[in-house]
Amino acid sequence: MKLPRRPWRPITAAHCCTVKGTPIALNNLTRCRPTRSEFSKKVSEASSFRRLSFSDLSSSSSVRFNTDDFVNSFGAGLFAFTVGELSAITQGFCSDYLLGEGGFGTVHKGYVDDKLRPGLKAQAVAVKILDVEGLQGHREWLAEVIFLGQLRHPHLVKLIGYCCEDEERLLVYEFMPRGSLENHLFKRMSITLSWGTRLKIAIGAAKGLAFLHGAEKPVIYRDFKASNILLDSDFTAKLSDFGLAKMGPEGEETHVTTRVMGTHGYAAPEYVMTGHLTTKSDVYSYGVVLLELLTGRRSMDRSKPKPEQKLVDFAKP
Ligand SMILES: Nc1ncnc2c1ncn2[C@@H]1O[C@H](COP(=O)(O)OP(=O)(O)OP(=O)(O)O)[C@@H](O)[C@H]1O
Ligand SMILES: [Mg+2]
Repeated sequence: MKLPRRPWRPITAAHCCTVKGTPIALNNLTRCRPTRSEFSKKVSEASSFRRLSFSDLSSSSSVRFNTDDFVNSFGAGLFAFTVGELSAITQGFCSDYLLGEGGFGTVHKGYVDDKLRPGLKAQAVAVKILDVEGLQGHREWLAEVIFLGQLRHPHLVKLIGYCCEDEERLLVYEFMPRGSLENHLFKRMSITLSWGTRLKIAIGAAKGLAFLHGAEKPVIYRDFKASNILLDSDFTAKLSDFGLAKMGPEGEETHVTTRVMGTHGYAAPEYVMTGHLTTKSDVYSYGVVLLELLTGRRSMDRSKPKPEQKLVDFAKP
């Protein structure tokens, strides 16, 4: 079954795709997708469970991508689904079930019953269809499976399963009934959040981030922002979207050098200038979300007068 194709929708960006380590223009940071040519890079085979990282995505590997190996590598926690199954549980990915759309695809609500897979309980789920026309969509899918397949914490959204069928890449998450923090802060879809709730969200998100940074092998989240903080029915905050996550520096290294990616308004200026990524880059983005929670203003709002467009500048005393 083929999924409907949508044209690629860049978020902003003229200079976002840069060669590793090359500084980029500060005001053009965004998420971006490189060319299609690298799409065929495969994940290397992993025989037993261990923490996988992008170093496992060897570009020289010619090993065929095998879903069963993949499942074994990530432990027993994830379910593999077919496109047909995910289409059935989302009523054919119909627009009535659309939860939202990001830079890399649409997210649809679905319901699984307890007959779909042994061990999978009946529940509402969110199904993300990754747009994998180029390498970046595929990498984001793989990063989600690698990181969220292995990291479990009350303040990280739970990845239930995935689909890897021909060139289709989908992800199945626990459904978060209150959607994203971004929707609550800026889209006026519900009543204004109380200060107590804002504090609860800030603390929950901080715990999720602290868990990632404090892991035996620290993980840099790289995309901390209001749209990636999802809210449970009681406003428990959970981090979602690990498509840009990176393993932290190892050994004596102080940072990871990487192509600059993230979201304008949230990314730490020193990372944008140098491509040097550290856990502190996430802490900067956390500070930006705190400002959003405090002011109710977006990190970047081009509809405002110039001096007020960037929240961090506007908030400076
Ligand atoms: N597990 C989930 N439960 C409920 N709603 C979800 C879930 N995952 C995503 N959503 C909704 O779908 C929207 C789109 O999510 P997605 O992660 O694709 O994009 P985004 O975070 O808004 O943007 P970007 O692509 O820049 O990260 C979210 O803002 C949220 O409202
Ligand atoms: Mg997101």
